[in-house]
Amino acid sequence: MEEYPEQRLKDKVILITGAGSGIGKASAIRMAKEGAKIIVNDIDQEKIDEVVNIIKGFGGEAFGYRADVTKKEEVVAMVEAAHEKYGRIDVLFANAGIADYAKFVRMKESFWDHMFEVNTKGVFLVTQAVVKKMLKYKVPDDQLRGKIIITSSRAGKDGQEELSAYSASKAALIQLKTALAKELGPKRITVNAICPGTILTPIYGKDVTRENIAGIDGKVALNIKQGVGDPEDVAGVVAFLASKDSDFITGQAINVCGGTIFH
Ligand SMILES: NC(=O)c1ccc[n+]([C@@H]2O[C@H](COP(=O)([O-])OP(=O)(O)OC[C@H]3O[C@@H](n4cnc5c(N)ncnc54)[C@H](O)[C@@H]3O)[C@@H](O)[C@H]2O)c1
Repeated sequence: MEEYPEQRLKDKVILITGAGSGIGKASAIRMAKEGAKIIVNDIDQEKIDEVVNIIKGFGGEAFGYRADVTKKEEVVAMVEAAHEKYGRIDVLFANAGIADYAKFVRMKESFWDHMFEVNTKGVFLVTQAVVKKMLKYKVPDDQLRGKIIITSSRAGKDGQEELSAYSASKAALIQLKTALAKELGPKRITVNAICPGTILTPIYGKDVTRENIAGIDGKVALNIKQGVGDPEDVAGVVAFLASKDSDFITGQAINVCGGTIFH
C-alpha cells in the first residue's frame, strides 16, 4: 500500500480477536495496509463482514471468522481454519474484551464472572490454541516462532473506581504476559501487552463522543485530543509489536495512554 511503502508486515498472518470494532478494527486495517494477511475474528458477523470488506476494498488480504473467545471449541476450530487457509499464524493479537461499570458492594457474582470469562479466560483460550500451533513451526534458530500481543488496559495497572472487576480482569493479563514471556521465550515466542488509556471506541456506548469521555479517568499529561486517544493511536503500536522492529522486546506492558500513568 502506498501509505506504508516499507510493508513491514508483508505476508505475515495475523489473528485479531475482537477485530470488528474499535482498537481491533483499526489494528486490522493498519496491519493489512502494512502487508499482513488478517484473520478478522469477532462475535458479531456483521462487524466482521464490514472490516473484511474495508480491507479487501483497498486490495488487502483478510479472512473473517466468527467465534466467541469464551468457547473453547469455537476458538480451536478458528485456529484450525486459519491454518487451513494460511498454513500458520505469525502473530496473535488477543484483543477481544468488554468493559462495564458497577459499584463494588452492589456487584452481582454473574457480573464479575462474565468480565473474567471474556477478558481473562478468552485470552487464555485463544493464546493456548495458537501457542500449541506455534510451538510446532520449524524456523531458523535466529528467528522467532511467533508473537503474542495481549490487550490489557491502563486500568490493569491502576485500578479505577467502579471498574473493579474490569481492572482485576485486565491486571491478570499483565502477569499472564510476564509468565508466558518467561515460559515461551526459550521457544522463541514473544509475549507483550498493551495498556490503552481512554480510547474513543464503542466500548463506551455506540453514541460515544470525545467530549463525553474526556477526563473520565483523571489527568492526562499530553495536551492533545482532549486526552482521548483514537483507535489508530493504538493500532500503530500494535503494528510495531507485530513487526520485526520489536523482535527483542518481550514481557513488556506498554502504556498507550497520553501520559496518565508512568509505570
Ligand atoms: N477503548 C478504551 O478506552 C480501552 C482502554 C483500555 C483497554 N481497552 C481494551 O481494548 C480492547 C478492545 O476494546 P475497544 O475499545 O476496541 O472495544 P469495542 O467494543 O469497540 O471492540 C471490542 C470488540 O470485541 C468483540 N467481542 C466482545 N466479546 C467477544 C467475544 N466473546 N468473542 C469475540 N469477540 C468479542 C465485540 O463484538 C467488539 O467488536 C478490549 O479488550 C478493551 O478492554 C479499551
